[in-house]
Amino acid sequence: MLQLTDIQLTGFKNYGSGRFHFTSPVIGICGLNGRGKTNLLDAIYFCCLTRSYFTASDASCTRFGEPGFRLEAMFELNRDPMKLVLVYRGQQRKEISMNDVPYEKFSAHVGRLPMVMIAPDDIELVNGAAELRRRFLDTVLCQLDPSYLQYLIQYNKVLQQRNSLLKSDHLPSHDIHQLLDAYDQQLAEPGAKIYTSRKAFCTSLIPFVQEHYTGIAGTSEQVTVTYISQLHEKPLSDWLPQTRQKDLAIQRTSTGIHRDELQFNLNGQPFRGIASQGQRKSLLFALKLAEYDLLKQQKGFAPILLLDDVFEKLDASRMHNLLGRVCRTGGGQVFITDTHEDRLRHTFADLQLDAQIIQL
Ligand SMILES: Nc1ncnc2c1ncn2[C@@H]1O[C@H](COP(=O)(O)OP(=O)(O)O)[C@@H](O)[C@H]1O
Ligand SMILES: [Mg+2]
Repeated sequence: MLQLTDIQLTGFKNYGSGRFHFTSPVIGICGLNGRGKTNLLDAIYFCCLTRSYFTASDASCTRFGEPGFRLEAMFELNRDPMKLVLVYRGQQRKEISMNDVPYEKFSAHVGRLPMVMIAPDDIELVNGAAELRRRFLDTVLCQLDPSYLQYLIQYNKVLQQRNSLLKSDHLPSHDIHQLLDAYDQQLAEPGAKIYTSRKAFCTSLIPFVQEHYTGIAGTSEQVTVTYISQLHEKPLSDWLPQTRQKDLAIQRTSTGIHRDELQFNLNGQPFRGIASQGQRKSLLFALKLAEYDLLKQQKGFAPILLLDDVFEKLDASRMHNLLGRVCRTGGGQVFITDTHEDRLRHTFADLQLDAQIIQL
């Protein structure tokens, strides 16, 4: 079992310095709005995934007026202690060490301490742009396979270069085509790897999503999840030369895994068009719990689950189902924030969970 026992935050968001000791597999964190509940969860997330859940900017996680921040966390994996120290020194300089050994590549750390977060704005995963659903896939896949992150970085870098080239108007056409030949070649391999990983992952994810949806919503509605990719039809190495003229005209790359989509249907209709608020929330939780199950299955132990203000998002019976699932049958550590201490205590008592409550 993976468990976080201690965390120390220095200069992280609203924490000048903060220290927490966790003694239980289920931890409730309560306090009024603005006290730092979400920030504490984000610090935990940061230690595991080497970045904030909420922002791509490390600088914005630094407490106002400070040059950087430091996070130190003690984990136990099957009783083996793991000390994680993450220091952000400002100006994009970040260092991470495990048991006092610095990582050369952060991708080697991502996935060692698997983690799933569910936060209020995540409902955009169901309602919002396709990019968010691709990011959802990427976040899980990076935790499952360190090479995935490498391929993704490589792909995005070349894609950016290719798009800049498509926009440039001062190069002779011959040079442009020669450069495009090179970029097309460099995109094909990481593109193919990412496609293969996403496809395999979606195949295993889909049954879990359907099962959780039924369990949480308590209905027999049929949700289906479909992975859509241009690469189903032919490989990227075939697509790119064929769409080159079009790409030059629209000045961006029109084919590739950056156009992938995860499509949701409810009883055969597009989910976004017809689903109620409750159904959307159920789908969000089903997706996240499916992510949790798959990580657990492939790692051999449960990820840490961070639930930020989920009580606000679910009615009592759905909440009961959800917590029962993850706390009793999941077997992993769970952190739950709430503004209402009473509500947390009652829920834990109802489910007969041995929980620790931390008041901020
Ligand atoms: N970089 C930062 N430096 C200092 N304070 C910050 C920073 N980022 C966020 N905060 C503060 O953190 C507080 C919000 O904390 P948050 O964890 O969202 O609270 P809660 O979840 O308990 O409602 C706000 O008061 C906000 O101003
Ligand atoms: Mg919050």
